Amino acid sequence: MKMCYLIGYPLEHSLSPLMHNTAFRLLGLEYRYEARPIRPGELEEFVGRELRSPDTAGANVTMPYKETVMELLDVLDVEASEIGAVNTVVNRDGSLVGYNTDGRAALRALRESGVPLSGARVVVLGAGGAARAVVYHLCREASEITVLNRTPRRAVRLAEDASGWGGCPVRWAHLTPETLSRHLADADLLVNATPVGMYPNVSETPVPRELLREDMAVFDVVYNPPRTRLLRDAEEAGAKTVSGVLMFVYQGAEAFRLWTGVEPPVEAMMEVVLEALGCGGT
Ligand SMILES: NC(=O)c1ccc[n+]([C@@H]2O[C@H](COP(=O)([O-])OP(=O)(O)OC[C@H]3O[C@@H](n4cnc5c(N)ncnc54)[C@H](OP(=O)(O)O)[C@@H]3O)[C@@H](O)[C@H]2O)c1
Repeated sequence: MKMCYLIGYPLEHSLSPLMHNTAFRLLGLEYRYEARPIRPGELEEFVGRELRSPDTAGANVTMPYKETVMELLDVLDVEASEIGAVNTVVNRDGSLVGYNTDGRAALRALRESGVPLSGARVVVLGAGGAARAVVYHLCREASEITVLNRTPRRAVRLAEDASGWGGCPVRWAHLTPETLSRHLADADLLVNATPVGMYPNVSETPVPRELLREDMAVFDVVYNPPRTRLLRDAEEAGAKTVSGVLMFVYQGAEAFRLWTGVEPPVEAMMEVVLEALGCGGT
């Protein structure tokens, strides 16, 4: 039996064990996925003892360790290194390799939802790990990206790092009602990469409804609930919407492929996640 772990602290109820164990069972793979809350100060020991064990295939890494785990690994994939965060670790014969599957998953979600990306003017809300992963991929497709963040320092760092990623210009501004309104006025795609609207704060939204238009697409990285208030408002405005559930399942599918070398059963993974989120049958 090969083990895969989810490491973070505190670990809220996560859908990853259900999603991965369903996939392992369906394909008859001798793997098991377990969530392991690791207290600050215990990360190094866990990585050395459990992740390096020959019985371990790898792990997913979540808050607050996506950055700190990097220095405990042997090899970093270029993408993870440039984004500056690891969400997936693979144990390759005792050598620990760090990947970031979030950005690729976001890109796949947007593409499969039919959102035109080539030449798009994009506004990204937030400048944390999810925003960095999304901008890393979108800057190769879009014509311009504006990052709006509550804390300017983080947005500045993202824009500076992005200038070395070989894509379109990435600008930044302080997130205020005025900058939001001004930059959304000619945006083709809005990405919410903040937790605003996430369960249990489901009545919150990062964008007033009147700023949403039918000729824009709206992607919310929040996946619980699958239809956030932002997405419901956008739908009402006639905009194309993309749920963070797609990104969640695709980042897991990519990790599954890295651990097992086997094509993940994406449809079954999506179904079990939607069912657990109370959207069975959709
Ligand atoms: N669908 C998926 O597969 C997936 C994958 C990864 C993450 N996510 C989701 O993405 C969200 C962000 O995750 P992350 O890893 O990027 O977190 P993070 O690194 O902590 O960054 C959070 C970002 O959101 C901003 N923010 C937080 N609260 C805010 C508020 N009340 N108003 C305005 N901005 C606010 C922060 O601004 P400051 O810099 O000012 O603090 C920061 O830019 C979470 O909800 C997470 O669950 C989803």
